[in-house]
Amino acid sequence: MKKIELYLPDAAATKALGAALGRLLRPGQTVLLGGELGTGKTLFTQGAAEALGVDGSKVNSPTFQLLNIYRGSEGREMGHFDLYRLERNEELEEIGFGEYCESGAVCFIEWADCFPDLMPEYHVTVRFTREGQGRRAVIEGKGAAEEAAVAALAREVAACGS
Ligand SMILES: Nc1ncnc2c1ncn2[C@@H]1O[C@H](COP(=O)(O)OP(=O)(O)OP(=O)(O)O)[C@@H](O)[C@H]1O
Ligand SMILES: [Mg+2]
Repeated sequence: MKKIELYLPDAAATKALGAALGRLLRPGQTVLLGGELGTGKTLFTQGAAEALGVDGSKVNSPTFQLLNIYRGSEGREMGHFDLYRLERNEELEEIGFGEYCESGAVCFIEWADCFPDLMPEYHVTVRFTREGQGRRAVIEGKGAAEEAAVAALAREVAACGS
């Protein structure tokens, strides 16, 4: 499993990392976002959205809707889930979560850790923790294409950081 760890000194770094991953994702891929309240999951998703051709300012926490769907450029679709307020597996099944993840949209799922059994088998995981004034992000890929995306992200970050 390919894994990278990065320190994000400020909010702009979180958004830029999201954009970098967004550029590497293919239709149908899923990103599971973990981390306590207010650690940067939505901001990361905004960065990724812009890379997919969605107006990032339209992307906010879908806590009350559970799912927001955005149309990007070149026919790309993006789904943004926030599972914070969900309590039972059945609720997720009722909103067609599994089917949507298979639909070809690029999916970003906040609070994915709450429903580990229902997440797509292959995914990129991004976990945020607070560190000083900034955040630490740990990114892993599960599945060949997802590991390749994380490896490409690692190369890009190394090139930018040097
Ligand atoms: N690397 C960073 N350094 C400092 N502040 C950051 C960093 N990344 C994000 N933030 C700030 O953290 C705050 C919360 O961000 P965001 O809403 O994306 O978190 P979240 O994880 O989606 O929260 P929630 O769990 O409530 O959905 C924002 O004010 C954002 O600017
Ligand atoms: Mg959020």
